[in-house]
Amino acid sequence: MTNKEIKIAFTEYAGAAEMEAEDRTLVEKAIEATKHSYAPYSNFNVGAALLLDNGEIVTGSNQENAAYPSGLCAERTAMFYASSQYPQHAILKIAIAATQGGVLCGNPATPCGSCRQVMAQYQLRGGKPMQIILAGSEKILKFEKVDDLLPLIFDSI
Ligand code: THU
Repeated sequence: MTNKEIKIAFTEYAGAAEMEAEDRTLVEKAIEATKHSYAPYSNFNVGAALLLDNGEIVTGSNQENAAYPSGLCAERTAMFYASSQYPQHAILKIAIAATQGGVLCGNPATPCGSCRQVMAQYQLRGGKPMQIILAGSEKILKFEKVDDLLPLIFDSI
């Protein structure tokens, strides 16, 4: 028997001003995308902005439904749209932001398990690491690849 440990690395920024311009833009787009969120049940408005390897930025927001499971998170809305419109292009980065009452949440919203799994699949499909940026007003976290948020990724079929 061997005991093993998995460590993850990420960068914490005090604010967008500390980030490179490309990341800053993506964070701004994610915050902007929260305005198109349709979240009458949770009032939790999430926006996602993706940077594709052709330079295109694709955004999405959470879309809720009276039949709760029929709704979809911002991340998957954006990724499914990107893959539908630009199937040949890898997603290089995804920025995520959440607002409540129009105000950016202090703590960054972290993607749910289903969104992490979908990120893993598109990272594999794109063949390039997908960086993940989680933006809050108190701090912004950046992960270099999906594996950091989903260790032991399922990709075996
Ligand atoms: N949600 C997202 O869109 N992304 C996340 O990362 C977490 C949760 C949505 C789903 C639902 O519409 C609302 O936020 C509350 O869970």
